[in-house]
Amino acid sequence: MKLAILSRAPRAYSTLRLRAAAEQRGHLVRVLNTLRFGIDLTGDEPDLQYRGKRLSDYDAILPRIGNSITYFGTAVVRQFEQMDVYTPNTANGISNARDKLRATQILSRHNIGMPATTFVRNRADVRPAIERVGGAPVVIKLLEGTQGIGVILAPEVKVAEAIIETLQSTNQNVLIQRFVSESRGRDIRALVVGDRVVAAMRRTAKGDEFRSNVHRGGSVEAVALPAEYEQAAVRSAQIMGLRVAGVDMLEGADGPLVMEVNSSPGLEGIETATQLDVAGAIVDYIAGQVAFPEIDVRQRLSVSTGYGVAELLVHNNGDFVGQKLGDTNLAERDITVLTVHRGATVIPNPKRSTVLEAGDRLLCFGKLEEMRSMIPERRRRRAKVRKLPAEALPTD
Ligand SMILES: Nc1ncnc2c1ncn2[C@@H]1O[C@H](COP(=O)(O)OP(=O)(O)O)[C@@H](O)[C@H]1O
Ligand SMILES: [Mg+2]
Repeated sequence: MKLAILSRAPRAYSTLRLRAAAEQRGHLVRVLNTLRFGIDLTGDEPDLQYRGKRLSDYDAILPRIGNSITYFGTAVVRQFEQMDVYTPNTANGISNARDKLRATQILSRHNIGMPATTFVRNRADVRPAIERVGGAPVVIKLLEGTQGIGVILAPEVKVAEAIIETLQSTNQNVLIQRFVSESRGRDIRALVVGDRVVAAMRRTAKGDEFRSNVHRGGSVEAVALPAEYEQAAVRSAQIMGLRVAGVDMLEGADGPLVMEVNSSPGLEGIETATQLDVAGAIVDYIAGQVAFPEIDVRQRLSVSTGYGVAELLVHNNGDFVGQKLGDTNLAERDITVLTVHRGATVIPNPKRSTVLEAGDRLLCFGKLEEMRSMIPERRRRRAKVRKLPAEALPTD
């Protein structure tokens, strides 16, 4: 394949290793400076310029977009996506992962363990927010920090309030997060490629530091990950839309607590700690996926007027319970079932013989009008207002 590594650091360890791994496997590889692209929307089709000239054809890209250039970098990646060039990490995935709040919001509905987190703006809401995550000591995080910079441990509520106020006064948004003291300055970094963890390490903070980042002097050692850590890492990366990711997890009392998902994980620490060819695993994965550029499924499937995607619920005691998919009237009603979600498992392309169970969620494509009546009622978080009594209210 012909691969472009998008990076502003051609001599950094990770870039050199990725490049070498690609060359070793006989691929054609170029390191292109992300900031030298020009997004070209002047012609009939989306196009890209590089250093002022039309870019030649590539089969795949590997974006390594630094934090300081997220906006431009993701715009370039999005342009490659429009041109059907394969990328393991989409522009959306990169933006979602970059913002710690956005990442936590997206993961929060998927049953992934995370440290209790709150986000508030008004001064009066800070103290209750700190209490909600368990009080001091409490962790305060800048939304877009990396390498441990912008992660602060406040020993007391008063100090936390002062720090938050100071940061907000300079227009910086911060997260308030429970301090997971049981992980004692240690965390796990799992490197996810595709749908598996290819390498994992434990990082231990230096001295009395609580941040275990390598850039903060943390030391690294290889670990064999328990299955629940592996699953949490892979699912987090998948949900974020990243096929190459470094997932950071604290070792909580009840299992893994995902802190963040990095879309451009550094390779030096993890390759040194594990002696594994992580760069090679990334290149091999990309080579295997080149034929499958990212498709925005919902958008593509919604182009036919009146048709779209919806998730239908098999109600308890409903008609579908115990029925074979082929015996339901879904096909007759022009509804195709793409996947069946059952608890934490997914049945892709379910067969006609698949027997439906109460609580199954069917991801369907079909006529929206036909599906409307079968869409589950919106989840209510709290009881609705009480019904009026049957009798008229007394008037005076
Ligand atoms: N809630 C927390 N409880 C305990 N330690 C934490 C917590 N959040 C972060 N840390 C420590 O701080 C480090 C950096 O935090 P992280 O959210 O990964 O930010 P960064 O993007 O700067 O790496 C983590 O690797 C971990 O060692
Ligand atoms: Mg981190």
